[in-house]
Amino acid sequence: MRILAPMEDVTDTVFRRILAELAPPDLYFTEFLRADLFHPRFSGRMQRRLEFSEAERPIIAQIWGNNPADYAIATTRLRQIGYDGIDINMGCPAPKLVKKGCCAGLIRTPKKAAELYAASCDAAQGLPVSIKTRIGLDTPETEDWIGFLLELKPAAVTVHGRTAAEMSDPPADWEQIACAVELRNRISPTTVMVGNGDIASAAQLQTAAAASGVEGVMIGRGIFEDLLVFRRHGRPWIEQPRAVVFETFIRHVELHNSYWQGERNFEILKKFARAYLHGLPEFETLYSQVMRYHDHGSLVAFLRQAVQQAVPGLE
Ligand SMILES: Cc1cc2nc3c(=O)[nH]c(=O)nc-3n(C[C@H](O)[C@H](O)[C@H](O)COP(=O)(O)O)c2cc1C
Repeated sequence: MRILAPMEDVTDTVFRRILAELAPPDLYFTEFLRADLFHPRFSGRMQRRLEFSEAERPIIAQIWGNNPADYAIATTRLRQIGYDGIDINMGCPAPKLVKKGCCAGLIRTPKKAAELYAASCDAAQGLPVSIKTRIGLDTPETEDWIGFLLELKPAAVTVHGRTAAEMSDPPADWEQIACAVELRNRISPTTVMVGNGDIASAAQLQTAAAASGVEGVMIGRGIFEDLLVFRRHGRPWIEQPRAVVFETFIRHVELHNSYWQGERNFEILKKFARAYLHGLPEFETLYSQVMRYHDHGSLVAFLRQAVQQAVPGLE
């Protein structure tokens, strides 16, 4: 199973819709959603973040926080909206969140982690509840931590093969992921194991899955290397015709504008410029030009003009 990783300010409904058209994964994750903001008094603030189109199914909503009551409210709402499952973030290493005992901070407080999971399960009424985490906080503690989580018998566990302290720096440790699979076989054979870290091509995905024994591979930053990474066959994004590259980027910018209507910052879109344009011969120039724009209309006008200036002999 090929899974799109949750990525804040990346995997919003707009980008998920683009991927659904280009090369859909087998499963989508939302960005992480703050459980305490599901309280009815914040409903307006969350609404647009929670919507998705049918093309983005199956879709898992990921939540974070540290209060079981919030998890119950959040899970109930997500179930009512129609999500296919709930995932609990126990892996984000942001120091501010870890300090508050959220996300990877839960590795320090397994009892709290179990309470949050139980609160979600009760409210999920049979909807699958999964956990995404790392192999430890400061040092690998796969046996203890992942072993503990597996005792809870979650529907799935995603293991990002780094400790929280490692952030995104050293290569992901797929041997630890393979250890997690062995633990699963022993402790909770029905839990689906998902490996995550540094996969950027369909070939790497197959090798990693075969070597570690996971049923699913989750891809995050690899999507920026190849927007077609979830395709099983065919040419990578950098070999796509020039017109397709520009038309898709323009579609993303326009969809972002019409969907978010100013609720989300235009600047977020700049994260995608490299992903769309990096195969073009004049990438460096185009990239620095894109960085100068600060609104949707001007960027679209620039991209429309740029697509006309095809380099002779290159489609
Ligand atoms: C920009 C960005 C935002 C992320 N946001 C989330 C998030 O909201 N929830 C989460 O569990 N992980 C988040 N992550 C971590 C990814 O889901 C993934 O675990 C990590 O990038 C390692 O996988 P990769 O090597 O395939 O990118 C984020 C990563 C990036 C780069």
